[in-house]
Formats: sequence, C-alpha cells, structure tokens
Amino acid sequence: MTHQALGVLASGRGSNLQALLDARARGHLSLPIVVVIADRPDAGALDIAGNAGVEAMHLDPGPSKTRLDGDAERAWIEALTSRGVTLVALAGFLRVLKAPFLAAFPEAVVNIHPSLLPAFPGLAAQRQALDYGVRVSGCTAHLVTEGIDAGPIVAQAAVPVHDDDTPESLSARILAEEHRIFPEAIERLARGAWRLEGRRVLESPPSRSTSGEAT
Ligand code: GRF
Repeated sequence: MTHQALGVLASGRGSNLQALLDARARGHLSLPIVVVIADRPDAGALDIAGNAGVEAMHLDPGPSKTRLDGDAERAWIEALTSRGVTLVALAGFLRVLKAPFLAAFPEAVVNIHPSLLPAFPGLAAQRQALDYGVRVSGCTAHLVTEGIDAGPIVAQAAVPVHDDDTPESLSARILAEEHRIFPEAIERLARGAWRLEGRRVLESPPSRSTSGEAT
C-alpha cells in the first residue's frame, strides 16, 4: 500500500525525529509528519516537534513500565488513526507494542535500532556490541512485529568499532548512520514499491512466475 501520513512515537531526545523533519524539509520524505506522541512529558522529541510546527502530544502509556496495552493502547491507536496516520515510525520509543496496535497498522510500523540485527536486540545495543567484541556494528531499520527487534529488515548500515571506543563514541558513529537510513527506509515504505517474501523486504517490480516469465 502507499501511505498518506506519518506519525512518530518517541520516548527521548528526538534526534531521529529531527532527521525525519530535515528529510521532509529537503523534499526527501513524501509523507507529512502529522503528529509526534511521547510516553514521557519531558521527552525532547516533543520540543523538537513543537519547534517544527508539528502537533506534539504526551499520552499516558498506562500502568506497564515496558509495554503499551489496554486502555492506553486504544487511546494511542485512536490518536494516530484520527489524524490520518497510516505509517508509524518509532524514533527512540522504548515500549513494546503488542498485537492490537500492530494490527491497526499492518506492516506499517517501523523502528530504528542501533545494531546490525539480529545481533544485539533490546536495550544498550552499543554496549552489548562493545562487550561482545565485534569489529563492525551499525544500525537497522526494520518493520515491527511482536518479537523484540525481530521484524523484517528494511535497511542497514555498518560502522567500524575502534579499539578506543566507548558506548558513547560508538553510539555517536552509529547515530549518524541512523539519521541517514531511517528517513530512506521510511520513504521506501511510504512509496509502496516493496513486498515481503518471508522475512525479506524486496523491491516490487511485476511479480514473476517460477518459470521466470512476467505474470
Ligand atoms: C537511537 O539510538 C535509536 O536507535 C534507539 O533509540 C535511540 C533514540 O535516539 N531506538 P533519539 O531519541 O532519536 O535521539
């Protein structure tokens, strides 16, 4: 499907949101960003949205510290759908989304994660990468499914890991790539010229029969 409007969910400082706003301003993002919703009233992302003239709202995430569910989940879905949102970007959103939310936006929730998935899902991915001793890390833009950081991969970028890296220095190197690939991945999803084959997100020219002839 092609999309009409982008909604962004965030929990923190909002640098990926800023990258999306910049991409939109440069004409690299065809979808308008119509609302930014945060689960914390002090999320920097809300200020960034407000400064850009985008509707910014804090919504109660409900009693769970890690998930969005129950009445709160329904309210978040309603806030998005009532504004025409068809594609949802998680830009540093630190809650697990469950089946009802994902069903409201089928194959239309995308996350940015600071590792080369499937390595190092979950929190503190940059610290996990350093502790493991990998020489290359990076970031992954992926569709969101019920498994944590487990959905089909839309885009990835790699960065080297240096001997003197700290979690902070590695995070900064990865973040620069996040800001590049996240808008690109969202634009790719927005344009709709893609299809899922198993876990693979593929370009979507006319489908071909197994004999190799165009169908
Ligand atoms: C980023 O590292 C992103 O990969 C992760 O959370 C962080 C959010 O940073 N999911 P920001 O709020 O976009 O600056």
